Amino acid sequence: MVKKWWQEAVGYEIYCKSFCDSNGDGIGDLQGVKSKLEILRDLGVTCIWFAPIYKSPQVDNGYDVADYQDIEPAYGTLEDFKEVLEKAHSLGIRVIMDMVLNHSSDEHPWFVESRKSKDNPYRNYYIWQPPREDGSEPNNWGNVFYEGNGSAWTLDETTGEYYLHLYSAKMPDLNWEYEPLRQEIYKMLHWWLDLGVDGFRLDVFNRFKKTPGFPDSKKEASELDLDRYRMDPAMFTHVEGIHDLIHGLYKNVFGPRDCFTVGEGANMTWDLAPDYTLPEREELVSLYHFQLSSRMRDTITPELFRTVQTKYWEKVTEKGGWIIQYMSNHDSQRQVSCYGDEAYRARSAKLLAALTFTSPGIPFIYQGEEIGMTNVRFDSIEDYNCCYTLGSYQSLLKKGKSVEEAMDYIATRSRDNARTPYQWNDSANAGFTTGKPWLKVNPNYKEINLEQDLSSPDSIFRFYQSLAALRREHPALTEGDLILYLPEDEKVLMYTRKCDGETVLVVANFTSTPAPFALPEEMKGREFKLLLSNMEEGRALSEKSELAPWEAAVYLL
Ligand code: NOJ
Ligand code: CA
Repeated sequence: MVKKWWQEAVGYEIYCKSFCDSNGDGIGDLQGVKSKLEILRDLGVTCIWFAPIYKSPQVDNGYDVADYQDIEPAYGTLEDFKEVLEKAHSLGIRVIMDMVLNHSSDEHPWFVESRKSKDNPYRNYYIWQPPREDGSEPNNWGNVFYEGNGSAWTLDETTGEYYLHLYSAKMPDLNWEYEPLRQEIYKMLHWWLDLGVDGFRLDVFNRFKKTPGFPDSKKEASELDLDRYRMDPAMFTHVEGIHDLIHGLYKNVFGPRDCFTVGEGANMTWDLAPDYTLPEREELVSLYHFQLSSRMRDTITPELFRTVQTKYWEKVTEKGGWIIQYMSNHDSQRQVSCYGDEAYRARSAKLLAALTFTSPGIPFIYQGEEIGMTNVRFDSIEDYNCCYTLGSYQSLLKKGKSVEEAMDYIATRSRDNARTPYQWNDSANAGFTTGKPWLKVNPNYKEINLEQDLSSPDSIFRFYQSLAALRREHPALTEGDLILYLPEDEKVLMYTRKCDGETVLVVANFTSTPAPFALPEEMKGREFKLLLSNMEEGRALSEKSELAPWEAAVYLL
């Protein structure tokens, strides 16, 4: 099989709003991104994923798209985007766009038309249903943000019908059953490819299809579900027929253009992933799953790590499908706060990076990870921005929780943890803006910032550089088989990646206490060459060894 560029890619997600502000309005922008591209190249990045930068009312920071073919004015213009694209390409960095095709903004011209009358040519671009006999919503589905009264339907007075919105009422769901809508989408994707982008990240692609007939959910209420509404992914995720829709995208766009695609697999499992990603399925190149990391999970145990990697290896990666290796993104907590230990900030940040870069798949970095940025905790709800955070906060209050309890609940779950501005240096607002940042900077920016990191012997950024270099130098890390050792160990992860006579071994202590371990029989007596370690002094691997807290090392066997 011909090798494709993405098989050796190192990805990097840019959340433009929080990355770098070039004009002092407090909002990150494309000229800001352009000014930092060399840094990303130096980090070892070969592919950028832009979280949505399209024109948008910013209800969900761009996941509410008002025009799929224009740039959000606060970020710049299409000309600015072309400059970024050209410069990125000249530095050897590909660019993929976040395509939000499950819903649009209610300010998108399609929806503005659609709501005008029942016989408007755009009516069927969205999902409309008449009220039940008592005038209430067509069913009991709840919205994902726990917004408003909790329902996933909003009544539109003009025509007396409800429209479906799995997320915000300002984000109506597109009707994928309608062929003209699908054709518009294919056309728009070709337009971006013609402009020179290298592929797409597909937002919640597995929710395009909803359960036919819109039956009520029978799920029990969760702590956030309000009244009779149930937020039940089963009603709109992996619904039968979804594969035809993704295959249609492949046949009409992805296949003929041979572009990179990565699907955001909400509620993905290793049993469902192969049907979306194996090449013979002709759907997607790769996907994100949430079985290792997610906003709700606050630990990754060695056992979980082994299970998830083994399952995806057996079912997907070994068979020619791809997954993304990552531990954080703009929807999650900061990985070092969540899966590492802030008391061992640099060391645990490096361990997490080492696992991401040496596991089978394509590593994606989320901005700030490479300098060990941490969670934030705001004292007032006023300081939070994320719509999911605000929705779940209100929901908890309505359900009788105190303000303190609700604030505690959101502190770790808020997506704003990952969205505070990038910490470039220790000047005002971390060097992100000369104005007032749209979201408060994490107060720890004086100690944690890129400049400080680069001047430290403990630099996390340089560790990422070394990992990217290892992937370039050792094909085992991109192509090699995965073999796991010490299957029962509660602290130590050990695995090899092996191809064409080359074997790379990774060992890592996933805890804050020392971890003694014994080398497996088959490795005794072999020679280990240290390639990379997150300790001051890299150490030889003896037959009986002990790993320090959060120690991680990569060896060549
Ligand atoms: C997933 C995106 O990553 C998230 O930020 C967004 O809120 C939802 N999809 C809805 O578009
Ligand atoms: Ca700006």
